[in-house]
Amino acid sequence: MSDYAKGLEGVIAAETQMSFIDGEKGILEYVGIPIGELAQHSTFEETVYLLWNLRLPTRGELDAFTKELRGRYEIPGVLAERIRQLPSDAQPMHVLRTLVSELALHDPDPNKNDPASARDKALSVLAKAPTLVAYFDRYRRGLDFVHPDSSLSFAENFLTMLNGERPTETMARAFDICMILHTDHGLNNSTFTARVIISTLSDVYSALTGAIGSLRGPLHGGANEGVMHMLNEIPSVDAVEPYIMEKIRNKEKIMGFGHRVYKAKDPRAFALQGLAEQLAKDTGNEELYLKSVKIEEVMTRELGKKGIYPNVDFYSATTYHSIGLKLDLFTPMFALSRLGGWSGHIIEQLSDNRLFRPKAKYVGPHNVPYVPIDQR
Ligand code: ACO
Repeated sequence: MSDYAKGLEGVIAAETQMSFIDGEKGILEYVGIPIGELAQHSTFEETVYLLWNLRLPTRGELDAFTKELRGRYEIPGVLAERIRQLPSDAQPMHVLRTLVSELALHDPDPNKNDPASARDKALSVLAKAPTLVAYFDRYRRGLDFVHPDSSLSFAENFLTMLNGERPTETMARAFDICMILHTDHGLNNSTFTARVIISTLSDVYSALTGAIGSLRGPLHGGANEGVMHMLNEIPSVDAVEPYIMEKIRNKEKIMGFGHRVYKAKDPRAFALQGLAEQLAKDTGNEELYLKSVKIEEVMTRELGKKGIYPNVDFYSATTYHSIGLKLDLFTPMFALSRLGGWSGHIIEQLSDNRLFRPKAKYVGPHNVPYVPIDQR
């Protein structure tokens, strides 16, 4: 079968109006707007509106959307109680996946998939997911929950719930930019997962839960935690060169590099690098940033010819560390943002649905006689 594409490489499996990627030139646009423009001028809330409505909102529309989102920050009381019963050493991505799934149990009509209902459910999960993550983190640290504050933006509210104090304007804006940059990215693995699940006309919660499970893999969104492990393992800038060269000799993958689509530096990595540099300077993490730059230099010299450059996860590690996030919250941060993209794709899939059902190429034997169990 000549049309088999392992890992579906190069296969176009859906139409989208949300994001455009040119992997050779390193271009990413949301609804036609270059990602750099959005990172500079937009907010996460406005970016989600853009992706869900395929146009920028007017001020009135944005205010209404933001108000609706903020009105949903609170989670059901029983779910807050439930968080207190979780193992305190559970991994936050497993917690987020479990609790997003559980949100369905508190929806009186979880299966409704008409456009208005799907959007409503998506908005609710987007608003509540930060509360779930922040509550779990405070619970495992033995701290009281900090309730969401509907007067605050998505970014400010999350950081306040997590840290128990309002973030500085710089930190909140840096976090907001990270959210914008991670929101959508074509038919990446977790987005594809969400679209595959909703294509059975299952439900929004199931599709988002599956997507979270996909994202946590180290070949996908889990790579940002791998980058931080690597940065912690390398004792100094001078130690970068021998460390990376040994990994390359051993044919080990360097986390935060390479991409199925980009054969140039990921445009999101450019924006995140600027943020990482500024924040690292402001928070005394400059050595971390300098190690990252050196890793990029060695990798580009050695593997640039193979099209292996930094992806979104590389500089997001230094950025999240400088914002003060614990390592195992890096991938959940990616998920909080990507919920916006996944939901947009779910809405898009539902609007013109066809069940995903590809074929497998059978490579096993035929006409094998059945051997009774005592004769095997
Ligand atoms: N470090 C070293 N070598 C690499 C890397 C890397 N990070 N990425 C790819 N390569 C090499 C492979 O070893 C392979 O070499 P070979 O042809 O000599 O065998 C070649 O490049 C092709 O690699 P594949 O893994 O087959 O390519 P694929 O398109 O499947 O890779 C992937 C995409 C999975 C992202 C890969 O680059 C990787 O594993 N990177 C590290 C993990 C990572 O950073 N993931 C985050 C991606 S961005 C995101 O999901 C948000």
